[in-house]
Amino acid sequence: MNKDRKLLIAGNWKMNKTVAEALDLVNGLKRELASVKEVDIVVCPPFTALESVSRAILDSNLRLGAQNMSEHNVGPYTGEIAAVMLKEFSVRYVILGHSERRQHQKETDDLIARKAAAAHAAALKPIICVGETLAERETNRTEQVLETQLRGSLAGLTREQMEETIIAYEPVWAIGTGRNATAEQAQAAHAFIRGLLARMFDAATARQVRIQYGGSVKPNNARELMEQPDVDGALVGGASLEVRSFSEIIKNSI
Ligand code: PGA
Repeated sequence: MNKDRKLLIAGNWKMNKTVAEALDLVNGLKRELASVKEVDIVVCPPFTALESVSRAILDSNLRLGAQNMSEHNVGPYTGEIAAVMLKEFSVRYVILGHSERRQHQKETDDLIARKAAAAHAAALKPIICVGETLAERETNRTEQVLETQLRGSLAGLTREQMEETIIAYEPVWAIGTGRNATAEQAQAAHAFIRGLLARMFDAATARQVRIQYGGSVKPNNARELMEQPDVDGALVGGASLEVRSFSEIIKNSI
């Protein structure tokens, strides 16, 4: 596939995998994907498996991401994890503002913006998730919702930081449902997001930013989605939990 931006395909394992299971998965992925150079491949295990996975992928083309982090650097925040702690395990990416956290942990755009600033301060690349619910889509509010989420969660970023930020467009109705957005729906949303980034930053910056699609990405729909001009990768949940399906998604995307 011929695109200026390198595809970035990340597996969001969510609250799955013990350390032993995590090692089985990454060892299998290392074997299957050793020759892939065309795609940046990232795995995002739960915090408890970061150290072991980090060691297991040291000599590989897999990179490490976390699923969340605190907006604070240190201090009395029981149960929280700071960016500097992630850096100890060579974490390079961090998913921020996933819709499950927006829903269950009541994360707001303002909080996500503070986390993004903390991630950049530690040289971690944030993967910032946005997306509309089914009710919002059905009442033609998709673009309005995306604009509010992006203006809020990218507030305060410099152009340089924006270039090191990844956006994940994840329609809430497509996550874990087996009902992916069509290639046309994804392309339309991604083109809108890139246009908005051009207005918020500038055209050159917007051209650099990778925009992932997430929501029921599977081996059989990956190619069509990745072929869209403004789709630069995928954030994969369920299908990232098995060696076979995650590797097939990557191989089918090249
Ligand atoms: P899914 O999840 O691939 O299982 O739909 C995607 C995500 O939540 O990032």
